[in-house]
Amino acid sequence: MKAALCKTLTGPDDIVIEDIAEPVAGPGEAVIRVKAAALNFLDTLAVRGKYQFKPPMPFSPASEFAGVIESVGAGVTNVKVGDRVFGSAGHGAAREKMAVKTENLIIIPAGVSDEVAAGVTVTYGTALHGLKDRGKLKKGENVVILGASGGAGLAAVELAKLMGGRVIACASTEEKLAVCKERGADGLINYSSGDLKDDIRKHTGGNGADIVYDCVGDKYAEPAIRALNWDGRFLVVGFAGGQIPKIPLNLLLLKNSSLVGVFWGAHAARDPEENRANLRQLIGWVAEGKLKPHIHKIFPLAQTADAIRELDRRASTGKVIIKP
Ligand SMILES: NC(=O)c1ccc[n+]([C@@H]2O[C@H](COP(=O)([O-])OP(=O)(O)OC[C@H]3O[C@@H](n4cnc5c(N)ncnc54)[C@H](OP(=O)(O)O)[C@@H]3O)[C@@H](O)[C@H]2O)c1
Repeated sequence: MKAALCKTLTGPDDIVIEDIAEPVAGPGEAVIRVKAAALNFLDTLAVRGKYQFKPPMPFSPASEFAGVIESVGAGVTNVKVGDRVFGSAGHGAAREKMAVKTENLIIIPAGVSDEVAAGVTVTYGTALHGLKDRGKLKKGENVVILGASGGAGLAAVELAKLMGGRVIACASTEEKLAVCKERGADGLINYSSGDLKDDIRKHTGGNGADIVYDCVGDKYAEPAIRALNWDGRFLVVGFAGGQIPKIPLNLLLLKNSSLVGVFWGAHAARDPEENRANLRQLIGWVAEGKLKPHIHKIFPLAQTADAIRELDRRASTGKVIIKP
């Protein structure tokens, strides 16, 4: 079977497509024929050895997948051969078949495509955990999303809107902001120009943001914290901008506000039941048409390197999908 393999940690240019042995399902595992795999920002780091978790070499990029179960190992009772499932495994989905633990696999409802289902786990899982469990979003609150057109950001735009928030999307180009508007954003801020703090205040009637969902960090975090409302919550989601900001703590005291970490992967490991419930809820909303995950582009497996370069170039909106 074919697999995209990262063998050198030198970035996407050195990813190769090779024939490798088919996997066998161990105890508690299933072999999945991958119909679609989805990339995340972490893949751009993992192929350079810069992600916090280092997969054993060589590895296939793409943590998320959707596919059909081909075989199951000893002790598996929650899924069966022929089931359509989606999930996330940290890495390894850019290949024709993969063996994964079955405990966190979720059945794909009829009518939801493989390409859409593949991209739901990480971005929407993070958005629901972040906005509901960590941010305690209430109806009518102003939610400012930094990096709003990326995979994680766009999921938060859609979900915050569905949960009754008033969504202000922040991105670097008018084209990216147009995608956010299509997905329900009420206000749009181009943060590549202007003063982010003033712009957030203007978009919130002078009150400031009740929640900031920050996927970028870097130079945007501090002005967004300065534009928090009283009792505001700043959700630390990611640092796509590169730099991890250092924040003067007096800013939190002045607004009775909170800095709140959001680490979906660790939450999913610590509370798998709640995570599965969140993912079932999310795919249910997708099936009902309440969430419409945006696919930027679908690449064949042979172009896995190009797919990762698309994220590298800061060129994608929503999800980048690979089809074996
Ligand atoms: N905490 C968690 O559990 C969790 C879960 C998922 C993702 N994340 C993190 O969230 C962040 C976004 O992930 P993602 O998968 O949504 O990535 P993505 O699809 O590549 O989106 C990243 C966004 O960040 C913005 N950005 C600003 N400066 C950038 C730069 N120098 N390089 C690249 N992008 C830049 C880009 O939009 P503009 O051009 O509009 O600025 C882009 O839309 C990452 O740091 C990721 O690790 C965290």
